[in-house]
Amino acid sequence: MVMGYFDAEDVEPDYEVPAIEEMGDEAWTPLQRAEIEIATQPREVIENIADRAHFMPVHNTLLDDFEVIIEGPRATQRSVGRGHNLKGEPIPVESIATYHGPAIQFTRLQWAYDMVLINAHIPTEENEILLRFGVTLKAGKGVTLSPAVLEAHVAAARNGYFEDVAIWENKRWRDQPVLVDGDGPIASVRRWYASFFTDSAAP
Ligand SMILES: [Fe+2]
Repeated sequence: MVMGYFDAEDVEPDYEVPAIEEMGDEAWTPLQRAEIEIATQPREVIENIADRAHFMPVHNTLLDDFEVIIEGPRATQRSVGRGHNLKGEPIPVESIATYHGPAIQFTRLQWAYDMVLINAHIPTEENEILLRFGVTLKAGKGVTLSPAVLEAHVAAARNGYFEDVAIWENKRWRDQPVLVDGDGPIASVRRWYASFFTDSAAP
């Protein structure tokens, strides 16, 4: 994975994106990749981490616990809930999704398998982003999953993420949203994202 950093004021990044320790570990499957063009802006994708209310209607996951932790250049969403495996059986679901800066997110997901999801998005037009997605799962050392089982779980993880796309492409951005109880800490995530703006990048 090759990452570039652009700063409108030509300064170096003051944070690092960490290595993904699971990659290269033989208990984990090779990274499966996908990419998708989405007619939206990066801030909609970012704001998803604060969107507590959408877990049940969009992802069919009942939340038991949810928090957003903002620490300097990183913003982490931690969620604990109940979902279903591919047989339709109820299972616990836990996810820790961290943005390292404004465009690269690594998610550790405990679902049917332990998984690591990569989401990297760049704006390509004013209202268009290219989202690159990767997933690896822990099959176990020396275990080879059948291609069908692997693909089904990779597809479920990928599609779970892509369930948000239809919403991003059809919602309207509001600078002053009307929020209700249960919406999640949208204002603090917006402030965090705005911390990456520079005067010369401001609209
Ligand atoms: Fe979502």
